[in-house]
Amino acid sequence: MTKFEDARVLIVGLGLIGGSIARGLKRKNPKQTIIACDCDSGQIAAALESKDVDQVFGIDDLPKACAEADLVVVALPPQATATILPSLESSCNERAIITDVASVKGNVVESAKKLPVEFSARFVPGHPIAGSEKSGYLASKGDLFEGRNIILTPLDNNSPEALQLVTAMWTILGANMLAMSVQRHDEVLAATSHLPHLLAYSIVDVLAKQEKSGDIFRYAAGGFADFSRLASSDARMWSDIFVANRVASAEVLGAMITALQALKTALETSPDTRLGTDLHALFSDAKRTREAFINTHFNPTANTHMNGKSVVFIAGQSGANLPQVKGRVRVPGDKSISHRAIIFGAIAEGRTEVSGFLEGEDALNTVAAFRELGVTIVGPENGKLSIIGVGRDGLCAPRKPLYMGNSGTAMRLLSGLLAAQQFDSELSGDESLTKRPMARVVEPLRLMGASIDAQAGGRPPLQIAPAKLHGIHYAMPMASAQVKSCLLLAGLYADGVTEISEPGICRDHTERMLEGFGYPLTRSADGSTVSLEGGHALKATTIDVPSDISSATFFLVAAAICPGSDVVLEHVGINPTRTGVINILKLMGADISILNPRSVGGEPVAELWIKYAPLHGVTIPESQIPLAIDEFPALFIASAVAQGETVLRGAEELRVKESDRLAAMAAGLERIGVDCEMFTDGIRISGDPEARFAAAEIDSQGDHRIAMAFAIASLKAAGELRILNCANVATSFPNFVELSSKLGLEIRVEHA
Ligand code: S3P
Repeated sequence: MTKFEDARVLIVGLGLIGGSIARGLKRKNPKQTIIACDCDSGQIAAALESKDVDQVFGIDDLPKACAEADLVVVALPPQATATILPSLESSCNERAIITDVASVKGNVVESAKKLPVEFSARFVPGHPIAGSEKSGYLASKGDLFEGRNIILTPLDNNSPEALQLVTAMWTILGANMLAMSVQRHDEVLAATSHLPHLLAYSIVDVLAKQEKSGDIFRYAAGGFADFSRLASSDARMWSDIFVANRVASAEVLGAMITALQALKTALETSPDTRLGTDLHALFSDAKRTREAFINTHFNPTANTHMNGKSVVFIAGQSGANLPQVKGRVRVPGDKSISHRAIIFGAIAEGRTEVSGFLEGEDALNTVAAFRELGVTIVGPENGKLSIIGVGRDGLCAPRKPLYMGNSGTAMRLLSGLLAAQQFDSELSGDESLTKRPMARVVEPLRLMGASIDAQAGGRPPLQIAPAKLHGIHYAMPMASAQVKSCLLLAGLYADGVTEISEPGICRDHTERMLEGFGYPLTRSADGSTVSLEGGHALKATTIDVPSDISSATFFLVAAAICPGSDVVLEHVGINPTRTGVINILKLMGADISILNPRSVGGEPVAELWIKYAPLHGVTIPESQIPLAIDEFPALFIASAVAQGETVLRGAEELRVKESDRLAAMAAGLERIGVDCEMFTDGIRISGDPEARFAAAEIDSQGDHRIAMAFAIASLKAAGELRILNCANVATSFPNFVELSSKLGLEIRVEHA
């Protein structure tokens, strides 16, 4: 495969984008051979003068230019791109990789698909989300793509080598890689880029036509200049874009016209106070949305991960009668399995197709991390994504620390994978993750020969240097699926056998998934020991992610505490290493049935049907703790409504989750008037089926599961529960409020 620095790059079209690629590549590596081809002698002269290109050709000499190139970048408007592809097919050498930059992909991909598959396998459609209202070579800038997004819309038959070479070019130019389906790309761009241009051109046109006296433009100031900036863009290119993307553009324009029509009607007919209130609400929402966008995309130093201090849930039931929870819902995909699908899909050979993927922040951070490691991941779109695996040795060095957000799982699993790579890396996270213990993975990884450093007290960030690993036999001091999975990932690359034994059964998604990827693995009959030998390959597969039982738990508990409730949760993962919550709730008297059990891609799945039945307190068996480790915040709410005492001991692990969950829950329970006593390793809760919890303000401490547990508690509250710091609910259950409302809960969201 051609290494990028040895590739001779041909740029067809020396406008703003083509010129910026030439300048950027030359700036990064003066030895890179850059060839250019353009129909405008002025652009050619400017490029030659700037010394950013080594060789230039007029458009009539395109075949000659192509013959020289290993990578051809077509930097033309969408229609011209679609038109030129057949001549590239006949002129390029049979190994050359071809990409483009057109901002509409549908017509370009259609044209590529008509060409022989040997060519289309080497054509990677792409689109840099960068540009300016200025055009032409003289407006081009070597740093135009620094920190900007590039969207690839890979063809099904694209070769991994083609994707890797194109990714390498954009990575060198400082860009971040994304990938989408063609259709989604064209819809998204119609909304976010094409519509604003259409409106800018059209507002200038409307005003110009109304202009009689010259007054309008005479008094126009900053607002008009800001809004109409896009109308200075290249008219030929933009008319070309709208012809190429007319369907999606017309659709979003339709939505815009409906909204404008509603505004016009309101201006004409609404009473003043009503109009003022409605406009204020609309403008406030829009202002907040724009500011969040600007902060995330244009202000990289702003701390956008403030542990969710700004989102407040106000949960309380307004009806006179006690609420009942009723309905049928499917909660989002399993977080553990979603992380693992990305990790294993990335290092497999071939294309792994995933459905039911959790589009929550934690799993999306894992997607972003693997993109930074050079893996093309298309999606997620409606829970579906495609991972184009780079093989076990195909990951590339990241250019920056990999941000794991709130996720201990992602950090611990990636530490095992990265410890075995031949490049440096760093893993960082948010405020909560920065406090979590990493010695539990750092120490055994060092025993395997890893070179890995944590901060004082074994906390993140983790710095990882290249190392050659060897297998170990490791008896984990705690039943941790994260530690086990971390070491198994490192073991894939280690010399010899890695064997891990666990003191109590913990989730086995890694083992099941490795088997699904065809990796040989040995498990002891009781499941307490697993071993593998390094050096085998993983083969791409199909993964259907079940719904997350940890998210389903909140609605199980909601139904379990409200008389008359009846809920069905669809397609829930019931892996026996995860069903502690069902076992414990049943022990407490809950009426739960498992309907239609089946196996989906190696994981057991079923519908869970829960009908209200009175609960009683229990002593939670220690063997159930690892099987219900994430479910305790919700289980504590069930305990507060159960008759008698519930006691949990031996659960010190709860102190080192996204928050100290024993302390956070005990504090919240006390505030709503529940009698409880916290121990170093557990809690005692005195339940009362008749009690109404007190209205209170509760700090979820940025822990998604604490926030959702108290939202459920509101079903039994006498007044409103105001739950602070809830933004992290989006890490695991982005549509929690929406699904809660479908089942009859009332939760309002405030952005403080
Ligand atoms: C997880 C394992 C559990 C769990 C976490 C996800 C996993 O942590 O709490 O939310 O995906 O492996 P431990 O393995 O540390 O108990």
